[in-house]
Amino acid sequence: MNRTKDSSTSLRIAIQKSGRLTDKTIDLLHGIGIEFDNYKRNLMVKTRNFDVELLLLRDDDIPEYVQDGICDLGFVGANEVFEKDADVTVLRGLNYGRCRLSIAAPENGSLQNVSDFEGKTIATSYPFLTNKYFKEHGVNVNLVEISGAVEITPQLKVADAISDLVSTGGTLIANGLKELFSILDSETKLIKTNKELSPGKQKLVEKFLVRIDGYQQAKKSRYIMMNAPASKIDRIKEIIPSMKSPTIVPLAESDMVAIHTVIPYDKFWLVMEELKSAGASDIVMLPIESMIF
Ligand code: PRP
Ligand code: ZN
Repeated sequence: MNRTKDSSTSLRIAIQKSGRLTDKTIDLLHGIGIEFDNYKRNLMVKTRNFDVELLLLRDDDIPEYVQDGICDLGFVGANEVFEKDADVTVLRGLNYGRCRLSIAAPENGSLQNVSDFEGKTIATSYPFLTNKYFKEHGVNVNLVEISGAVEITPQLKVADAISDLVSTGGTLIANGLKELFSILDSETKLIKTNKELSPGKQKLVEKFLVRIDGYQQAKKSRYIMMNAPASKIDRIKEIIPSMKSPTIVPLAESDMVAIHTVIPYDKFWLVMEELKSAGASDIVMLPIESMIF
């Protein structure tokens, strides 16, 4: 094995070994054409067709691995990036793994507003962000740092309240807690080390980003096709918020055309109604795998 070559040119990317980000990160990597197997069994995985190796880590450790340049890139929640106050560059927000860091207290208790927390004890795995929040609000709190099962601490009288991640809210409800206010909104971020990369690695990062952007754009877009009277082309063009001018193909039936274009997914249903009333028929929507500009 040629180790020297590997370590100077292979991009090393940190991903969460198992947790809320893992499946979607693996899907994204496969979706941008990076092939690999056995990520469940190994901590380091070589990919078959891109000069990338994956390091599977606890999400809490990812910001530091990237900060120290042990990994060049990392996929990790904003919650961990900002909690660790890591010296890294956030390259992209990835719109999955959404959750929030919130303050929660016993359902029937009297704690409501930030000011009610003066002198109270809060258990958290996010001491940095929690402390910063209360400091900014001029409220003095005692923090108990706990690495897991934070939700149980009010029942055990270890803390008056907690500061923890909330996604569906199911964990809070199961533990008789209510969410009072959120102190950080989080999603998965693609981060890059601030240590200098070799020109070879820098090039790979750029290639990687082109693929990610294509994948992201495609996820947000749909290819639509419809038939319409030729006389309605101008009206339909007004309705379609397309990036480029639509493709218009004459149909065998006189005065009818087929119109093909790409639209943002979230606009589809809205536009679809309008298109129908403008005379479009046989409207078909298709997913797009990738879009490269
Ligand atoms: C968080 C948090 C809760 C749970 C909340 O842990 O600590 O246990 O998610 O999710 P819910 O609102 O959907 O019930 P996570 O799974 O992120 O693990 P980690 O903090 O140990 O990485
Ligand atoms: Zn974690």
